Amino acid sequence: MVVERTLSIIKPDAVAKNVIGQIYARFEAAGLKVVAARMAHLSRVEAENFYAIHRERPFFKDLVEFMISGPVMIQVLEGENAIAKNRELMGATDPKKAEKGTIRADFAENIDANAVHGSDAPETAAVEIACFFPSLEVYSR
Ligand code: TYD
Repeated sequence: MVVERTLSIIKPDAVAKNVIGQIYARFEAAGLKVVAARMAHLSRVEAENFYAIHRERPFFKDLVEFMISGPVMIQVLEGENAIAKNRELMGATDPKKAEKGTIRADFAENIDANAVHGSDAPETAAVEIACFFPSLEVYSR
């Protein structure tokens, strides 16, 4: 088992639904620890840079518009296999295909407004964490 860190974002739809606490409770129940957190209303440039990998995809413009439509809650989660564990808690990208009991199945409306983001690999986790948290702001104990 590897102790990892992953970047999680509670997206504008879930923040608007007032379920930050319920989502945090799921992280904690699964053994994931919040080691850094901040709320932010992303600028267009921040959202475009964060999702730069999807720049050429047809949904990119709508994705950016959605991500800047309201505040988001951004956190670093730490724990054993944190990256895969968080992805498991999140469920499939399309909430209609997400397993019962996952965050997206319970809180997301559709594939555009799907409640949460989670890094998908150690390399992307490192880049995404650095994007929002200078290292000194991460507290692991
Ligand atoms: P992706 O990285 O494929 O999914 P995940 O968030 O599960 O890692 O896509 C990033 C986001 O882009 C996704 O959360 C929602 C949006 N998106 C769409 O709006 N339409 C789509 O068809 C896809 C694949 C993603």
